[in-house]
Amino acid sequence: MNKKRVFSGIQPSGGIHIGNYLGAIKNWVDFQKDYDNIFCVVDLHTITVRQDPKILKEKIRETAGLLLACGIDVEKSVLFAQSYISAHSELAWILNCFTPMGWLEKMTQFKEKAAGGRERASVGLFDYPVLMAADILLYDTDVVPVGEDQVQHVELARDVAKRFNSLYEKDIFKIPEVKIKKETARVMGLSNSEKKMSKSDAGENNAINLLDTPDVISKKIMAAATDSENKILFDINRPAIYNLLVIYESFSGLTKGEIESKFVDGKYADFKKDLAELVAEKLKPIREKYKEISESGEIEKVLKQGADKARPMAEAKLKEVKEVIGLG
Ligand code: AMP
Ligand code: TRP
Repeated sequence: MNKKRVFSGIQPSGGIHIGNYLGAIKNWVDFQKDYDNIFCVVDLHTITVRQDPKILKEKIRETAGLLLACGIDVEKSVLFAQSYISAHSELAWILNCFTPMGWLEKMTQFKEKAAGGRERASVGLFDYPVLMAADILLYDTDVVPVGEDQVQHVELARDVAKRFNSLYEKDIFKIPEVKIKKETARVMGLSNSEKKMSKSDAGENNAINLLDTPDVISKKIMAAATDSENKILFDINRPAIYNLLVIYESFSGLTKGEIESKFVDGKYADFKKDLAELVAEKLKPIREKYKEISESGEIEKVLKQGADKARPMAEAKLKEVKEVIGLG
């Protein structure tokens, strides 16, 4: 029986953090055994806001290297960078012509990201979900594992696919399903638990980067916001401590009950110390593996080989799309 296809992407911007890891990457690693997987470093999405060319180039390799270090295995998964396959841009253009502006106007992430004002935001930033739809639809994707912030974009991809299929009365595109891991679909910031942990905060105390050293991890966690209750309980109405507990739960594998009993008489400072040790211990092998991979000089080769595997699939789908439209 054919395995179902998973596709997901990550931007090579800023530092990859534990929100990315717990909300997305960890699930991708777990899916590898049961699915046919394609993972993409979405560099074309990253240029929707201004990037330094040298840093972008480094980040593409760093992101790919971190995915490998987290356990993406190129024997089981295809890993490549989006800009290596021009079919992504080409299908995005075609889908642009089938996507009403009104659908994009509803995207909440554009509203957040264009905080400097929509007049100044790039057209690419507005159009970002259509490129994401192209990524997904090129590969007959069944399942798209993402964090909660991307659910609306996957829904848009579904709508675009359905619209296209119905216009041409042919099942050109598979309709993808979104998959989120409920507990960690939205890991919040450490200093501001009202804001999701995000790449733009990676240099600050709000996010723990996968490459942070134990000292930095400890500093960030000890400085994390809590509340004045000093009770270590999973209470969703106390978002700061709840978020720290969710991080503890995901890294430790313990149940909520076990964690609450463990810290029943504990103070926040004791819990934070334990959490910092746990996170540092879990990230240590990733950091070590990353060092090994980045020093091996193999990342470029992995990305090229991945693109060579993905390209024929993408080109076949693009050809099908062009034929049905009457292009070429
Ligand atoms: P990005 O950082 O936007 O490239 O996101 C890569 C993946 O990580 C996407 O699936 C996001 O939904 C997910 N993600 C990003 N930030 C978080 C977060 N704070 N909590 C959970 N998942 C996240
Ligand atoms: N937009 C996603 C993010 O910022 C990344 C992404 C691009 C993606 N293309 C995708 C995720 C396709 C899933 C499927 O997180």
